Amino acid sequence: MNNSQSIIILGIESSCDDTAAAVIKDGKLLANIVATQNIHKLYGGVVPELASRAHQQNIIPVVDQAIKSAGINKEDISAIAFTSGPGLMGSLLVGVSFSKAFAMGLHIPMIEVNHMQGHILAHFIETSTPTANSNTIPSFPFLCLTVSGGHTQIVLVKDHFDMAVIGETIDDAAGEAFDKAAKIMGLPYPGGPLIDKYAAEGNPKAYSFTKPQIQELNFSFSGLKTGFMNFITNETAKNPNFVEENKADICASLQATIIEILLLKLKKAAKQTNIKQIAIAGGVSANSGLRAALQNLEQELDWKVFIPKFEYCTDNAAMIAITGYYKYLIKDFASQTISPKARYALK
Ligand code: KG4
Ligand code: ZN
Repeated sequence: MNNSQSIIILGIESSCDDTAAAVIKDGKLLANIVATQNIHKLYGGVVPELASRAHQQNIIPVVDQAIKSAGINKEDISAIAFTSGPGLMGSLLVGVSFSKAFAMGLHIPMIEVNHMQGHILAHFIETSTPTANSNTIPSFPFLCLTVSGGHTQIVLVKDHFDMAVIGETIDDAAGEAFDKAAKIMGLPYPGGPLIDKYAAEGNPKAYSFTKPQIQELNFSFSGLKTGFMNFITNETAKNPNFVEENKADICASLQATIIEILLLKLKKAAKQTNIKQIAIAGGVSANSGLRAALQNLEQELDWKVFIPKFEYCTDNAAMIAITGYYKYLIKDFASQTISPKARYALK
């Protein structure tokens, strides 16, 4: 039993292919452990059944490591926070079932967390080693461009738990656009980080790709994917080594197109709402081109930009634990009857 006044939250994340556990004490991060499942690389994408089996194997060692590296005992934990959705059902079930058993065994409350809300609230994680990009926390209201493998949204964040999606993709997510383009080029999964790496050496103006004409603040990436596939097919028919010989330029041009699509709508949203505090979140916010482009806009448009540290961009449990911490403060607890939700709208 935790007899001190401190609030210690164990966070659990298992929505896709990362098994993660983190410990947060009074809003400050003590431990953040992620086990990435490399098995999916063999298949060019996440295989749901293999993901849930790997979560089963990883969850106890990952939690054990998080508790040990935080320097606490499990009896010190005030509550367990876990991702209840959105995500892959089999993957979510492992984290949810583990959390229920853990909470029951220790007689502590459970807190359910929306994964996308977690990505946004990652901006509120306090660490003992702040970096240039992470030592400030956005104030409300702010806009967050949440870009991951499954989602692309512009969210108006009015409070920790008062969020409105004001724009989103009508088909593929930005991360999917990176991953699918990488697959077309014969690169392994996940392709986003590789495209980012090759793009650094290439010319972003070497090739131009289809840009969507979509209403309002919404996005579309399926036309870009089809256009990219046709481009690679045509060029490879002329020169079988086209991709290998021009990898950097292709990656740089594709990345620049995705960033342009994202920023066009983000600028529109900032103008419409008259909000100048702009954050990014989710796996694609690790992209160095996107990070640099946002930093340029900070100067150009007088924005205050918030970019998460790399380890809080892609899936992690620190973002789930911090969301749990804020829910603990308002006593927003879940019951043992809770089920995972493959789809879970942000509100
Ligand atoms: O948030 P996340 O870890 O998982 C989901 O909730 O989907 O995001 C994963 C996505 C993948 O599509 C991956 O390719 C992309 O984030 N990603 C990147 C980079 N790092 C991860 N995309 C572009 N550049 C990167 N550096
Ligand atoms: Zn995610």
